Amino acid sequence: MDVKPSNRVASIGAYAFAAVDEKVSELKAKGITPIDFGVGDYQDPTPRLIRQACKKAVDAHATDGYPSYIGAQSYREAVAAWLKRRFDVTLDPKTQVASTIGSKEGIFNFHEGFVNPGDTVICPSPGDPPYKRGTLFAEGKVFFVPVTHRNKCEYAFRRIPDEVARTAKIMWVTTPSSPLGYVANLSFLARAYEFCQQRNIILASDEAYSELYFTREAPHSALEVAKDNNFDGVVQFHSLSKRSIMTGWRVGWVAGDKRVVDVFKKVKTNIDSGTPNFVQDAAAAALADEAHVKKLRGMVKRKRNLICAALKKAGLKNCKNPAGLYLWHKAPDGMSGEQFATLLIEKCHVVTTPGEWISDTVDGENPGAGHVRFAFVPPIEEVKVAAERIAALKLS
Ligand SMILES: Cc1ncc(COP(=O)(O)O)c(C=O)c1O
Repeated sequence: MDVKPSNRVASIGAYAFAAVDEKVSELKAKGITPIDFGVGDYQDPTPRLIRQACKKAVDAHATDGYPSYIGAQSYREAVAAWLKRRFDVTLDPKTQVASTIGSKEGIFNFHEGFVNPGDTVICPSPGDPPYKRGTLFAEGKVFFVPVTHRNKCEYAFRRIPDEVARTAKIMWVTTPSSPLGYVANLSFLARAYEFCQQRNIILASDEAYSELYFTREAPHSALEVAKDNNFDGVVQFHSLSKRSIMTGWRVGWVAGDKRVVDVFKKVKTNIDSGTPNFVQDAAAAALADEAHVKKLRGMVKRKRNLICAALKKAGLKNCKNPAGLYLWHKAPDGMSGEQFATLLIEKCHVVTTPGEWISDTVDGENPGAGHVRFAFVPPIEEVKVAAERIAALKLS
């Protein structure tokens, strides 16, 4: 028979990170073990307290069967309690919080609930791929806002055309931004909220990296600017992946406007069967502990400082990320991101992601051009080796 993908699947290119994985496999096939700063997936273990909580929970849930589609009440309470402590926002765990199978699932499927064919979704470029992919699978159109070191990831709202705003159903913001690592201040979040409120657009804030910051003040949440308005039209997406080294556990949440959360719950009920209860228990234990998060933050900062210092020594202009898991670094003058990434693989056996691969062109320009992304995920000893090799390069 003739096996043909749907038009929707056929129109979509390879997932950028699958291409990165391929590059790593090619090197390994040549007998070289690269130091992998490519995909944002920690190579350090999940903290012991979380694994212990999970082991206990497996027995406690021996006869549970399917989990709840929207998360156990105890997990949603743990999320609401954390949000209260961290952002001083009060959400009803019953109606304003739902679990996700990690943010990727939640973000992708969210569009199904709100986007009709031809509707628009406003997304940052570069940005997390599910904003765009979820929109396209829901047959919507994407309007990209470029986020760069120049604009520090703040959107120029007046440059969003009226016809885009009229047909937009969702606007995505990411704070801290990813991969650039800028922390949105309350004034930007308030302006984003006002823009969306005036145009009946849902403000969806992806805050997956909110705990990885190197600034004195912890990042704010978009929930804060809508808290006196019962979170009208705002939802936060969050996840345990980056906060607690739980990328493999697939657990996160959406929280905010009850009516928006309700629609999302309806979508989920039709798509999946939720996160296993023992994983939710482990996630609740992770949310109750800040010590491991503090330690992780320190560790990511050390890795970031090593790589930044090495790039500076090699002759590049120093450029530190204020938050997040990534360094979005400019390539040497005259080099594309892909060329710089290739040089790093060949000369240092260091894998990074070329900026062009993970950014979409806006007004004829790719904001990722001439950049590479380092994900601070290899163990610290490997980061030290990578830093020595990079520092020995002559890049200017
Ligand atoms: C900005 C951003 N949001 C969300 C996610 C999804 O994280 P997860 O699906 O592991 O919760 C990622 C993953 O790297 C990300 O970079």
